[in-house]
This record gives sequence, structure tokens and C-alpha cells, in this order.
Amino acid sequence: MNFHEYPDREALFLDLSNMLAGELRRALSEEDRATFSVPGGTTPGPVFDNLSGVGLDWGRVDVLLNDERWVPESSERSNTALVRGRLLTGRAAEARMIPLHREGAEPEEALDALAEAVEPALPIDVLLLGMGTDCHIASIFPGADRLDEALSARAPVLLPMRAPGVPEARITLSMRVLREAMSTHILITGAEKRAALEAARGADPAEKPVAAILNTAHVHWAE
Ligand code: 6PG
Repeated sequence: MNFHEYPDREALFLDLSNMLAGELRRALSEEDRATFSVPGGTTPGPVFDNLSGVGLDWGRVDVLLNDERWVPESSERSNTALVRGRLLTGRAAEARMIPLHREGAEPEEALDALAEAVEPALPIDVLLLGMGTDCHIASIFPGADRLDEALSARAPVLLPMRAPGVPEARITLSMRVLREAMSTHILITGAEKRAALEAARGADPAEKPVAAILNTAHVHWAE
């Protein structure tokens, strides 16, 4: 694990945005298209804002959520709406978003069609993850109904996921797909998440899922 500590959140968001932009440019210099997988939640918005103002060949970038809450895009909890509003705007507006949600269906009903659209974009070139204080990443939650399957080396690309205390059904990339990313960055802020991350080092991924990816990840943290 490469741990990067920043003096404040503004410096973190700015430096991380620049790092991600550089990695996307490098991927685009080697491939026709680059896949950029991003988290939802409350933390990454400022990184998306910064990136949407960066000049790169966004028309050749496929943006793929790590996971999605199974809510309408009109919901304030929609990760799709977050990414469309904060990342796929400005200079990044021409990036292509690979959907991880379909209105109306249940995750199980939409899964095959969504996975079919994700497959050609794999492996992920640049992966940005968030993390919960319970050490979940994407929607791979401790205690979730399909946790073992999501952690399996033979996991499918996508899984539906439901977990105690999580208000809605989810759909998530599996840990196998996340671990196959060419470059992995984890964005966390605050003392609680830093303590959780330290406790996850060497832990059982079934208890602290982030432990499955720490050895290859760059972790970016500010208070
Ligand atoms: C989601 C995310 C999830 C998120 C963590 C941290 O759908 O919520 O993809 O994995 O990264 O829950 O969320 P915060 O940034 O809100 O703390």
C-alpha cells in the first residue's frame, strides 16, 4: 500500500485529480479507449469537479461506476446522477458513461444486459474507490448477502448486493474486476476512515473488504 497524506482536503482533491488525469492520458497514449471507474458517495465530488475542467481526450474515455444504488436517477442518492452532474460536464462532457442502472427493473433483471456492456471496457485502466468506515469498497459490504461470491476469484463482473443497514439494493463490480485494474486509488478523508484503513491492513477481506485490494492501491488521505 502506498499511503499519501495531504495537508488539507483541497490539496488532496487537486493532487489526486492531476494524478488521475495523468494516468488517463498515459492510458490513452497506449490504447484506443481508456476505462475510468469511479465511486459514488459524498467524497469524490470535488475530484470530479476538478477533472471535468481538465483537457484530455475525454471522447475516448469510458466512465464506469464502481457500484450503484438501485434508485431512480432522479433520486439524490443516485451515483449515476452524481457522475453525470459533476464529472460528465465541461471538458469531460464527451466521455461515455457505461450504465450501471436501468430504470424500473430490479438489479437481478438488468444484470446480464448491464454486464454485457461492461465486459468490453475491462480491464479498468484507472480505478478510483471510496471506502466506508466499515471498510467496504464499491458495494462489497461486510455481512452482505452475496459477499463471498463478490470476493471469489471466479466472481462474475457484476453482482446484485443487499446488506444490513444499507437502505437500498445495490449492483457492484466484483472484487476480481476491481483487483484487475491497471492502477488503483482509494480516496478517504477524516480520522475515522484512516483508523479503519489501518485496522484493515492484513485483515480478512470477508470482515474488511478493502483488505483485498490494499497491497496494490495508492491511498490518498487528508483529515
Ligand atoms: C457508494 C460508493 C461507496 C462509497 C463509500 C464511501 O455507492 O456509496 O460507491 O463505496 O465510496 O460508501 O462513501 P462516502 O464518500 O460518502 O463516505
